[in-house]
Amino acid sequence: MLSIPYTGSDPLTLSLCLNKARTKEVLSYHKINTPQFLVADSINSLENFQLTFPVIVKPIAEGSSKGIFNSSYVESIDKLSAFLNENLSKYLQPFIIEEFLPGREFTAAIIGNNNDTVVLPLVEINYTELPDHIHPIYSFEAKWIYDTSANPLDIFTCPAKLPESLEREIKDLAIKTYDVLNCKDWSRIDIRLDKNGKPAIIEVNPIPGILPNPEDNSCFPKAAKAQGISYVELVNKVLDAAAERHGLI
Ligand SMILES: Nc1ncnc2c1ncn2[C@@H]1O[C@H](COP(=O)(O)OP(=O)(O)OP(=O)(O)O)[C@@H](O)[C@H]1O
Ligand SMILES: [Mg+2]
Repeated sequence: MLSIPYTGSDPLTLSLCLNKARTKEVLSYHKINTPQFLVADSINSLENFQLTFPVIVKPIAEGSSKGIFNSSYVESIDKLSAFLNENLSKYLQPFIIEEFLPGREFTAAIIGNNNDTVVLPLVEINYTELPDHIHPIYSFEAKWIYDTSANPLDIFTCPAKLPESLEREIKDLAIKTYDVLNCKDWSRIDIRLDKNGKPAIIEVNPIPGILPNPEDNSCFPKAAKAQGISYVELVNKVLDAAAERHGLI
């Protein structure tokens, strides 16, 4: 509004991506693979429930796995009702219920605009690092309780070890998603393989976290490092992408 140039996406993209259901509606229109879902703002929303279990239940507009616990992986309608009863009043927002993607999980860190958009080496989330009784999800417990800087888990593999064709497919899906949502300068896109081994979009982070301490597990700096890009260079690359987009360099 004040004509001050800034890095990153505009308010429309930021707001759209904060709402996981609206994001998925846009992706579906563009035929981008993303799991079937239902939005629940009360228990009555379950009357038309037609999804296949297991499902994952998440607050519609959070990040950093706030409100996503091991118990968010749900296998029956009774458990789903109980989960919603307990959590709708706690989080004061609707929940999105999504069919669970059972395959390997990756995140794609992207920098740039137009023809200069680059996907950094893919990061894979290693679920073998979590205790056996825990569901394979990058939950609040997995990010903030089991993994600490004092006791870090080896939770990321970067670059992810993948057949070249699958790696290309994942990166192309990430770029297409970035373009469709009009992301600018940088974003991180979470992707998981569905039951047929096809990559599907979990969610889009147009302001990804970048923890500066390499001992804290943070996907974007990890992906940059795998490409030989330091933390400071990463910050400058985002700045340069924005400056170029605004015609300042
Ligand atoms: N449909 C799904 N199928 C399988 N796993 C899922 C699904 N949705 C979410 N997850 C798991 O839950 C994790 C957190 O979900 P999501 O990325 O939507 O939350 P977030 O809080 O926005 O995360 P971020 O820290 O990236 O902002 C994912 O990394 C993934 O492990
Ligand atoms: Mg995520």
